[in-house]
Amino acid sequence: MTTWTPHSWRNLPIQQQPQYRDQQLLTQTEQQLHKYPPLVFAQETRDLFSQLGQVAEGNGFLLQGGDCAESFNDFNAPKIRDTFKVLMQMAVVLTFAGGLPVVKVARMAGQYAKPRSSDLETINGVSLPSYRGDIVNSFEFTAEAREPDPARLITAYHHSAATLNLLRAFAQGGLADLHQVARWNMGFVESNPLKERYMSVANRIQEALRFMEICGITAQNSPSIRETQLFTSHEALLLNYEEALTRRDTLTGKWYDCSAHMVWIGERTRQLDHAHLEFFRGIHNPVGVKVGPGMQEDDLIRLIDALNPDNTAGRLTLITRMGADKLADKLPALVRRVKQEGRKVVWSSDPMHGNTVKASNDYKTRDFEAILREIRNFFAVHKAEGTHAGGIHLEMTGEHVTECTGGAYGLSESDLSSRYFTQCDPRLNADQVLELAFLIADTLSAARK
Ligand code: PEP
Ligand code: CO
Repeated sequence: MTTWTPHSWRNLPIQQQPQYRDQQLLTQTEQQLHKYPPLVFAQETRDLFSQLGQVAEGNGFLLQGGDCAESFNDFNAPKIRDTFKVLMQMAVVLTFAGGLPVVKVARMAGQYAKPRSSDLETINGVSLPSYRGDIVNSFEFTAEAREPDPARLITAYHHSAATLNLLRAFAQGGLADLHQVARWNMGFVESNPLKERYMSVANRIQEALRFMEICGITAQNSPSIRETQLFTSHEALLLNYEEALTRRDTLTGKWYDCSAHMVWIGERTRQLDHAHLEFFRGIHNPVGVKVGPGMQEDDLIRLIDALNPDNTAGRLTLITRMGADKLADKLPALVRRVKQEGRKVVWSSDPMHGNTVKASNDYKTRDFEAILREIRNFFAVHKAEGTHAGGIHLEMTGEHVTECTGGAYGLSESDLSSRYFTQCDPRLNADQVLELAFLIADTLSAARK
């Protein structure tokens, strides 16, 4: 194998990159970014690594979620706060139900680059470059907007920094207080049409908190009640951006991609002999790889060995995204093989990307039932194989959007148009995502028995 450097990926074939017109401006921008401060500190990344190591060993659960694509326009404090709140609410339910620590990783503060199934988008006979996320071009369907612009790399950096700053403040400044989060959950349950179904979990959480309080464990004297640790992650698609933020840690001498704590490789860019694998093998962050229904057992082992040659628990998370039915068919053999070969991984379920459908009114949507079914099948497979169902990966928002059908409020296809805001894939809204947490609570506690 050749020597790894932060730029060794440049010698290999690469997919899903924008074609910039002004290469000189691009190089200047990359050099500028290279001088900017890192967004995360390597020591935090090592913390996440060891927490994921616990998950891989069966002693924790990974909750990863956020927007499909963050947007420059829709960039404001309430939006960040609401998604943060829902992540915390979910985490409390899952911690309680699973009886395991939940590792919280936001798909935020850098989730700006999108792989696309086609290079061009055609509307009414006009073809323009596809929208590739705000870090590349703009969503608007004009030739000017769709032209990739290097300046957007800098804007994405600043937006990520501001988002991260607020997330850190929320995590440590009181918004993650367990009592408060449990009260929000009570509020959610009380106004939900399926109230009875969720009430017992919400009540039991309240009781547990009251019991702790009687024992003298309060937000005032216990940081673990008052604060939390929230990590960031995104698909590291634009390798020039990731390279520019890759730094050698002064404490250990190792390279870290300091654009986020965790980064993952998407389903479309995980070819063994391509650039993304090359870049990822040299960074020391915990990393993820999406695993679709076409994954072959031998290829999976090769992929694992390329990314985690020392077989360290916590380094690699396999994020399966197969679709509810295909997962039941394809996942068992993969799980069995990985177990047989003794490879240490976190298995996490992305129940979103294999369940995208087109509604009769042309909206791209996902049905709540299919999402729930993929998660349940994921748990069932791991139970049958004697492995740990280690996490979930969701596209979600704290906003009241109408992008996925179903859930307790029975969103139908004709409701989709009322608040359909996503610039990319349909997300679960705040109610749907909490409902999912309450619904998988039983599955999670059954899996622990
Ligand atoms: C995504 O996570 O938004 C995504 C594009 O997923 P995948 O690579 O699994 O298709
Ligand atoms: Co998506």
